[in-house]
Amino acid sequence: MKALVMVSAIVAMIPFVPWGSFLSSTVTAGAQLPTLIQAVVIDDNPTEYGSAAAGQAVNVNNLTDFPTPDASLGDVPGNGHWVFTYPTSGSLSLDTENPNTFQKFELIRLPNGTNKQASDFVAFSKVCVHLWCSPDFNPLNNLFQCPCHGSEYEIPDGLAIHGPASLQAFPTNAIPMLTLQADSDGNLYVFAMNYDPALSAPGKPVTVPNDIEANGELGYGRDYNSYYKFILPNSQTPANTAEESTTV
Ligand code: FES
Repeated sequence: MKALVMVSAIVAMIPFVPWGSFLSSTVTAGAQLPTLIQAVVIDDNPTEYGSAAAGQAVNVNNLTDFPTPDASLGDVPGNGHWVFTYPTSGSLSLDTENPNTFQKFELIRLPNGTNKQASDFVAFSKVCVHLWCSPDFNPLNNLFQCPCHGSEYEIPDGLAIHGPASLQAFPTNAIPMLTLQADSDGNLYVFAMNYDPALSAPGKPVTVPNDIEANGELGYGRDYNSYYKFILPNSQTPANTAEESTTV
């Protein structure tokens, strides 16, 4: 009887949860592991990201709300970089309040990111691979900079080029990053981090075995040579959604 009451309560909540805002799907990448994809939705923080971008889903065609970095503006809201939460809790407000940097990624529109493709962006982990402080993109010098001990990561490959992280051995000298892809309408998606060394990216073969393949390991590192694997070309739909098995 208790179980019946609980199930009824959960079912009653379903219409009030904004599932559609996040468009999370469990998809199967061919014969590989299940891959979670999620629409990129910026944390709802107008002070940080301006009213235009805060809480909005990212579209690669939108150069107004998601502009390229402008060094003349300095590090001000809406200046080419934003933070989003992955994986989402399903609630934008809870995601925004979540302080866990291991679930935070910085979406950076590249300085030449006007091609209206996923490759206009990178999505770097907010956890420095030195001692886990939280770096920020600086549009004045186009570097991803850690405030604690001065590590600086270049874009777009995320290799540490200054500071203690740059002195760490390969492959602990690059920032982990998420795979991006846009659909035919320009909506931007990220894929689940791929930690499996037997895989490189959804649907891609292994080319560099024995390194930190795919998206890297949060707080530890990534094979920066594999940058090209993380920006998938625009496609009619995000990769593998044709094989979608479950929608949550
Ligand atoms: S924690 Fe980032 S430089 Fe030390």
